[in-house]
Amino acid sequence: MNNYWQEPLRIGNLSFPRFMGGPLDGITDAPFRKLVRTFSSEELLYTEMRHVACVANDKTGRLSLDFDQSERPLNYQVAANGTKFIERAIERIVDRGVDIIDLNVGCPAKNVVNSGGGSSLMDDPAKLEVIVTALRRAISIPFTVKIRAGFKAKNAIEIAKLIEGCGADALAIHPRLRTEFFQGRPDYALAAQVKQAISIPVLLSGNVVNWPTARMAYEQTGVDGFLIGRGIWAKPWQLKMMRAHSLGQEFNISKQQIFEIAQQHLQNMLDHYGEHGLYCFRKHLPFYVKGFVGASAFRTKLITSTSIIEVQEGLKQLGQSIV
Ligand SMILES: Cc1cc2nc3c(=O)[nH]c(=O)nc-3n(C[C@H](O)[C@H](O)[C@H](O)COP(=O)(O)O)c2cc1C
Repeated sequence: MNNYWQEPLRIGNLSFPRFMGGPLDGITDAPFRKLVRTFSSEELLYTEMRHVACVANDKTGRLSLDFDQSERPLNYQVAANGTKFIERAIERIVDRGVDIIDLNVGCPAKNVVNSGGGSSLMDDPAKLEVIVTALRRAISIPFTVKIRAGFKAKNAIEIAKLIEGCGADALAIHPRLRTEFFQGRPDYALAAQVKQAISIPVLLSGNVVNWPTARMAYEQTGVDGFLIGRGIWAKPWQLKMMRAHSLGQEFNISKQQIFEIAQQHLQNMLDHYGEHGLYCFRKHLPFYVKGFVGASAFRTKLITSTSIIEVQEGLKQLGQSIV
């Protein structure tokens, strides 16, 4: 048991700490990943999902290849509903420089499902097999797939075997049905069955937010690693903290530090997106200030502010007001 937390997770020929930053579209973008890197240099970070057609046709790369090498190790997540754009997309991603490529077979969004991608592929194993085979053929670096418990019915074990059979290097499971979106209890018993059914590493995604929940999830599933999704939202230090705690080490973040980190996050957003970065930061701000005295008045004021200086000063003042 002790060795488990000390040993790295292996995916293909690569090794990583067992806690990874999972994909959260619109949240775990380049400015956020850069912030995570100030705490954690070795942990694998997923990019947000991009459709292979978008990658293949994105002339400047600004829409789909929005990362730089300082963010590595990176697992670049693609979506696909056919094989048409796979080769060109993969060539561009690999040329740009990533460590792993992941296929999204879990997205529940209506537009993705209606176009025959994301979690709907769990309902069409024949089509999934064609896509995974084409990706495996095109990808020369490690390749992973992220699935759900199922689309309408739980068929994760069958799908996991199919994916292993196509040559994927690891499988991540978010053990909820598509119909459950992100709510309800993730089915850890199913994740445990998937782990038993295949030999490639299995990564768990769902309600793992800190060291106690990770330890419990490991005890219940025996999986090889953990994708931290909402648990990392406005907590870019969380992977470092979880790793330290799993090794019996101390790691704390003070309230003042939280406000310094929030200010740095806003700055990263402004550097990356220009003035629009202020609007992007609004998704994060409420999480940083949550629970602090005066937070709700502050939140209401700053979330509607169109002044960069006002938000910067507000964060600074709130940080300084903490005793
Ligand atoms: C806002 C949001 C965006 C997400 N975007 C993605 C995505 O782009 N790709 C993906 O595979 N999963 C995505 N997910 C699912 C998460 O990666 C994760 O599987 C799910 O939230 C359960 O894990 P958690 O409890 O740690 O958040 C998203 C979830 C949320 C809440």
